[in-house]
Amino acid sequence: MVRIDVLDPKYQLSDQYKPDKEKQYKHPIEQDGWVIAHNALRGEIQLLRDALYAMKQRDQSLQDWEVASLQSAIDGHILHMLGHHSNEDDIVVPECRKRFLYPEKLETDHEILVKKIETIKGIMLGLDVGSKVDNLLHEWIEYQDMMLPHLLEEEEVGLPLFRSYFEPKAAAKITQKIARQASRLEMGSFVYFLGTEKFRSMFMKNEGIPDFVWFIMFKRSHKIFVQQFITNVEALTSGTAPTEPKCGSCNIL
Ligand SMILES: [Fe+2]
Repeated sequence: MVRIDVLDPKYQLSDQYKPDKEKQYKHPIEQDGWVIAHNALRGEIQLLRDALYAMKQRDQSLQDWEVASLQSAIDGHILHMLGHHSNEDDIVVPECRKRFLYPEKLETDHEILVKKIETIKGIMLGLDVGSKVDNLLHEWIEYQDMMLPHLLEEEEVGLPLFRSYFEPKAAAKITQKIARQASRLEMGSFVYFLGTEKFRSMFMKNEGIPDFVWFIMFKRSHKIFVQQFITNVEALTSGTAPTEPKCGSCNIL
């Protein structure tokens, strides 16, 4: 991993906040919630790419259930992706700008990615029985090629700066705020791609989240994500209609 020099004075805004906090963290950067959130987005993007590729290989016109499953899964990803950007733009970045010079590019990348996902949404909404997925797969690969370097840049630039300027207690407050505001689908994806056991034994402990919150919030979020996203992409990849009921209104929760 290429890291920036967090000690570079160009990032420091005042003597009140110095880039000397990283050593206070007990968990490595790979276990940071920011990276885990990105792993969830990467996981969804890859699974949807696999599903679209499998559908293209089958070379059949879409059936009714495939249209519904594809729309449900992509709609879920879009909600997650926009929610994730909102966490960064509305919660994390304003806090960062109180302590250090947050690189503009990381925010402006979001606008480009949103334009791309709007194109994908338009294609997705236009799908009907008999449609083919070639155009959607092409756009999805382009989207993946734009998103992955962006996520990596945030991890190599934004995150090391964040952990240098924010002590673990202040960082945990921000993480907890995000967890409270995130949609069920977004949190469910976060839990799913980390794994439920690791989420409870590692992430919740790292962030000081009490164990009972699993039962009143995260367990249900995980279930909703599996219903709306995983069940549908697995069905699309295998070519067999999902047996679980589709969770049509999950993304409203
Ligand atoms: Fe991000």
